Amino acid sequence: MTTSIQPVPAGLSGGLAAASATDLSKVYGAGETRVAALDRVSLDFRQGEFTAIMGPSGSGKSTLMHCMAGLDSVSSGSARIGDTELTTLKEKKLTQLRRDKIGFIFQAFNLLPTLNALENITLPLDIAGRKVDRAWLDQVVSTVGLSGRLGHRPSQLSGGQQQRVAVARALASRPEIIFGDEPTGNLDSRAGSEVLGFLRNSVRELGQTVVIVTHDPVAASYSDRVVFLADGRIVDDMASPTAEKVLERMKGFDAKGRTS
Ligand SMILES: Nc1ncnc2c1ncn2[C@@H]1O[C@H](COP(=O)(O)OP(=O)(O)O)[C@@H](O)[C@H]1O
Ligand SMILES: [Mg+2]
Repeated sequence: MTTSIQPVPAGLSGGLAAASATDLSKVYGAGETRVAALDRVSLDFRQGEFTAIMGPSGSGKSTLMHCMAGLDSVSSGSARIGDTELTTLKEKKLTQLRRDKIGFIFQAFNLLPTLNALENITLPLDIAGRKVDRAWLDQVVSTVGLSGRLGHRPSQLSGGQQQRVAVARALASRPEIIFGDEPTGNLDSRAGSEVLGFLRNSVRELGQTVVIVTHDPVAASYSDRVVFLADGRIVDDMASPTAEKVLERMKGFDAKGRTS
């Protein structure tokens, strides 16, 4: 298999990792209510790669994503976006970094109902006072297949189309990495596979780095790599996943009674 996207050589971009965690731990509560949501997790999200995070409910998937995206504080260890250490950043810098370097896709599309698709896509750039790179925007819009829909309001779009607007919005600022926590969780399987196809295109064609959480083996099969969590630890790391391989691996969790 060939891809047109080559990783940037180490030294040019400061390394191959768009984001990385080293011995990342997150503890909620104390005493009897203490929960180690993440227990010394170390991993790299490589540039131009599509990673899926899987694992039983409560295994720490959302916590990992939130800590890596600077949306939640960590208890110990390191979380970096590119070369920037998040855990020591002041709130203002962290807000800036989230705005400039990170894209988010949520399960609920979070579009503004009074704005049309194009206005929703460019809203974060407008808020940041950044100029819209028209050529890039055109490429993003055609990658996600929204060219004929830019004047439509969210209520005039299907769920799949709305989520594609959200994907385009995340891509518009050319973030270093896009995080999605179950981005297809509210979509039927056809709309879901559409959105996943577009995310994969953004990786293949635009060189985007994407990390999603999913519990769906078919969704995971769109990725280049599946990282499995259980009890706040990485228990497996699968390259070139297929739905069958992922399902097999998940059965291992079921056998241990860990899936809820
Ligand atoms: N804000 C919170 N306060 C206390 N415990 C939390 C909080 N968020 C998550 N947890 C706990 O941390 C663990 C991991 O949660 P989470 O990352 O949401 O798992 P997942 O996304 O894999 O379902 C769970 O045991 C959960 O109950
Ligand atoms: Mg979760």
